[in-house]
Amino acid sequence: MKNDLLTVNLAGLKLHSPTALASGILGYTANYLQVIEANGAGALITKSVGVTPRVGYPNPTVVQARDGLINAVGLPNPGINEYTQEITYAKTLLKVPFIVSIYGYSADEYALAAKKATEAGADAVELNVSCPHVQYTGSEIGANPKLLRDVVCKVKAELHKPLIVKLSPNVTDIAELADVAAKAGADALTVINTVRALAIDADTQRPILSNIRGGLSGPAIKPIALRCVYDVFETVKIPILGCGGVSNWRDAAEFLLAGASAVQVGTALATEDLTVFQNINKGLETYLKKKGYRSVKEIVGLSHQN
Ligand SMILES: Cc1cc2nc3c(=O)[nH]c(=O)nc-3n(C[C@H](O)[C@H](O)[C@H](O)COP(=O)(O)O)c2cc1C
Repeated sequence: MKNDLLTVNLAGLKLHSPTALASGILGYTANYLQVIEANGAGALITKSVGVTPRVGYPNPTVVQARDGLINAVGLPNPGINEYTQEITYAKTLLKVPFIVSIYGYSADEYALAAKKATEAGADAVELNVSCPHVQYTGSEIGANPKLLRDVVCKVKAELHKPLIVKLSPNVTDIAELADVAAKAGADALTVINTVRALAIDADTQRPILSNIRGGLSGPAIKPIALRCVYDVFETVKIPILGCGGVSNWRDAAEFLLAGASAVQVGTALATEDLTVFQNINKGLETYLKKKGYRSVKEIVGLSHQN
């Protein structure tokens, strides 16, 4: 569905709607990504993939919380060498920007996986420097300004496609890390990954997740994510993809007003259904028309005005 009212240009990527599939939710196979595209997503981000295959954690890996999910899936993935075939196939099916999420245990690993993903056809990469539940990667890199700078610089030097960096909320000052990522060469930022969390079963008297600690997602984290987008918008000039608890058009509008140029939708796909993208797009369209705007871009960051 083409609609100029909702079109956004994000670091050179053209999105017909400002709603993208968040990494990790339903996103590995090309055929499934095509179904999500058909439901109105303006861009698709895969589950994170690394240089070598990873099994992930044993069950239970996901637990329902009030107004959200706590997950510690453990980054299961087939490794970039095997996944390149799926990337190449996906590119033959998909029309919207196709973004591969990458993680690594060193700057070299991030760069290698990013290079292979883009050579196989990915339109952009998103660096997962924010997963809160796997040691020596994710937020252990993204929360450390020096490591974050090294990873972003190294990937940027090897990449000829847009580079998106996904930030963690589990830090003292997310704006400071956003600034580090932007100065190191990020073309856009995803704000945020999951919030560190824990679930305990009163009957068994033990933590529920096999990994004990996990990351909270869904409506419960929306106010945190909104605050992070608001803070980052005040500090950096590059586009922001807002992420965290977006379930309907009103949530999406709030993120845009806070400073996001587009939003990502994750948990709502598990708790609602795939029509969430169409519903957000339709709702945003009605909202923009009613308020007299000609482009969704006009409301980005508007809540910062005095
Ligand atoms: C089951 C599950 C798996 C996830 N896997 C990844 C992942 O592989 N890489 C990543 O960057 N984020 C991952 N995330 C985080 C989401 O992309 C998103 O940042 C987070 O869930 C907040 O958005 P939401 O509230 O819309 O779900 C995962 C989230 C969930 C619930």
